[in-house]
Amino acid sequence: MTQLRKTIAVLPGDGIGPEVTRAAVEVLRDCASTFGHHFDFREFPFGGCAIDACGAPLPPETLAGCRSSDAVLLGAIGGPKWESLPFGTRPEAGLLGLRQELGLYINLRPIRLRPALRGISPLRLERLADCDFEIVRELAGDIYFGEHGLGGNGGQAYGSDLAKYTAAEVERVGRYAFERALARRRHLTSVDKANVLASSTLWRDTIAAMKSSYPSVSLDHLYVDNAAMQIMLRPNQFDVIVTGNMFGDILSDEAAALAGSIGLIPSLSRGRVDQPALYEPIHGSAPTLAGKDVACPLGSIFSASLMLRESFGLETEAQWIEAAVDRVLDRGYRTVDIAEPGGRSVRGSEFTAQIRSELRAASAPKSERQSRGA
Ligand code: IPM
Ligand code: MG
Repeated sequence: MTQLRKTIAVLPGDGIGPEVTRAAVEVLRDCASTFGHHFDFREFPFGGCAIDACGAPLPPETLAGCRSSDAVLLGAIGGPKWESLPFGTRPEAGLLGLRQELGLYINLRPIRLRPALRGISPLRLERLADCDFEIVRELAGDIYFGEHGLGGNGGQAYGSDLAKYTAAEVERVGRYAFERALARRRHLTSVDKANVLASSTLWRDTIAAMKSSYPSVSLDHLYVDNAAMQIMLRPNQFDVIVTGNMFGDILSDEAAALAGSIGLIPSLSRGRVDQPALYEPIHGSAPTLAGKDVACPLGSIFSASLMLRESFGLETEAQWIEAAVDRVLDRGYRTVDIAEPGGRSVRGSEFTAQIRSELRAASAPKSERQSRGA
């Protein structure tokens, strides 16, 4: 068994970010001690709390700490406290800055249903079928990073945002999406608005031209409005979806609803393979839930298992975590967001404690496990 030594930058952020991140770090520590790895966690201020402490959402030492780590674990950022700050100085600007500085142009959001939670999906089970797909969202371009302008009458008369893609930007994320599809069910759906937008026309033409390099992958194209509808009508038609930054942001929240709660979905953001990737749940900082110990830690815990799998090549360890989560769900434990209406729920910390006790049980020598009856 290879024992790894890795440095992980931890950016808990705001709202429920710190509590869900704590849960994921505990699980990663359990993983290290069980499998003999050494994970060195280094925590840095980021987002609104960094504005309060250091005057900027992405302080230079946070960026330097991320750059010199093997991977980054992020909680969530933002909240009402910082919403009235001028455009470009809010916590969200720190997140976009971090993505840009680390060169994170790929964002992967796996939409996987936990078997025990199929009943909480808003879709009827026959429509849901065996839905399991991945959204590959371009993360470094598009309207998010085009020129922004507020002008006239002291910035009150117009606002403008430029949506732009270069063929090279589309190709690099397209390659990743084709590769993902190749390793799965070999079906790629590219989503754009090529009937209206020039940036989307380029997107579609570029993805279509790449198809010949991946003869065994079937490729189709959907307009984003139709894609939004298809995700609800027939989600099991999708294997891998590739789309631009803005459409990917919106469609991934919609797709997360299928899994039953946005609290369940992790994400990977990465650029070049030799650079640190960033892992974060796709949910926000949920300021109204913060500090109440009700937030679901699973988005963050699954981000940790995704990190083990994708950055460190630790598939066994990733499965060890995911299987423990599934057993806790099988035993009926739920946080409030994933409970059946009127069903019983436990606090976030209790839920994490249950997962950790499952992890311990799974790590115990076989003889001990048998005497526990597991
Ligand atoms: C996400 C978030 C961010 C985004 C915000 C917080 C800037 O919604 O990661 O999906 O729009 O990318
Ligand atoms: Mg979003």
